[in-house]
Amino acid sequence: MEKLIRFGVSIDKKLLDKFDALILKHQYSNRSQAIADFMREKLIEQDWNTQKKKVAATISLVYSHHHRTMLNKVMDIQHDFEKLIISTQHIHLDHDNCLEIIAAFGKGQDILELARRLRAVKGIKHASFTMTTSGKQIS
Ligand code: NI
Repeated sequence: MEKLIRFGVSIDKKLLDKFDALILKHQYSNRSQAIADFMREKLIEQDWNTQKKKVAATISLVYSHHHRTMLNKVMDIQHDFEKLIISTQHIHLDHDNCLEIIAAFGKGQDILELARRLRAVKGIKHASFTMTTSGKQIS
């Protein structure tokens, strides 16, 4: 367990009321937990922008496996980024639809480029992208 520091913050009451409503909605147990979480979010965002640290991400794609041209394009792009992609999982959702989950680890801008290229493939029904961290320097 890291050493805990207690510090005071002066803040506009209206802003604090909005913050309290937000953390209640997100079911944080207290302000400290919410503030620490938001601080980590900003630190992770910084890692994505600085290009100095490796970051992690998942890209999820939903598509019909009957669309062969699209499948080839998705595969070509993944091979172009083979050093960045650390794992893929393919799930057959039903007779037509597939869910593909791609885990990437590397420089933020490279991962963003991979996500942009995959999202742009014609025929993909939905693509989502989740940025996260390597876990280092985030307690
Ligand atoms: Ni499938």
